[in-house]
Amino acid sequence: MKKPANRRRSPLFEVRHSPIHGYGVFAARRIRKGTTVIEYLGERVSHAQADARYEDKAPKDNHTFLFTVDAKTVIDAGVDGNEARFINHGCEPNCESTAVNKRIFIEAIRTIQPGEELSYDYQIQRDDDDDDGVDEVYACRCGAKNCRGSMLEAVKESRQPAHRAPRRAAGKGAAVRRRAARRGQAPERSRRRGG
Ligand SMILES: C[S@@+](CC[C@H](N)C(=O)[O-])C[C@H]1O[C@@H](n2cnc3c(N)ncnc32)[C@H](O)[C@@H]1O
Ligand SMILES: [Zn+2]
Repeated sequence: MKKPANRRRSPLFEVRHSPIHGYGVFAARRIRKGTTVIEYLGERVSHAQADARYEDKAPKDNHTFLFTVDAKTVIDAGVDGNEARFINHGCEPNCESTAVNKRIFIEAIRTIQPGEELSYDYQIQRDDDDDDGVDEVYACRCGAKNCRGSMLEAVKESRQPAHRAPRRAAGKGAAVRRRAARRGQAPERSRRRGG
């Protein structure tokens, strides 16, 4: 018997509760290495607009849906965002973010089995005036063997204490960071094979 034409493939992933944090995104079927899983969508705003949107948050609330595109633009997936905003951070991730023509895509960097939670390294930018407790606020719960304990980017040589600008004193209600946290800049490169 002839098979029905135009069979649509079942969804690649699903959103559900995550052991890492809140909701997460899980492979609903095998995702091959190199697959573009989803584009990170949302409203494109300036860094100043992004900061203004999150400035009323409690100092220890690290939750944002921001993703840095470049020095001018941030994507706020809290507005018009898609499922990409639910992908959690992982220190041994199975995905990575890439920028193509100022658009952000999440790609599988290894083959992912059904049921595995998708993750990529947020590499949240550090600021020179970050409070000493900043890594605690951004504590990572990815559960990886080599978890670095923080969703912030690894401390760079140039940011060792000796070279760091003096930190602000953390007074009552002092903001842990002046800028709302956003995921790090994804490397710009030509797009890999689609899914
Ligand atoms: C873009 S959201 C990811 C989806 C989130 N789980 C939710 O339900 O909204 C980013 C936020 O999720 C939390 N998060 C993501 N990955 C995490 C991790 N590895 N450890 C702790 N919290 C994490 C942080 O609060 C982060 O700011
Ligand atoms: Zn981790």
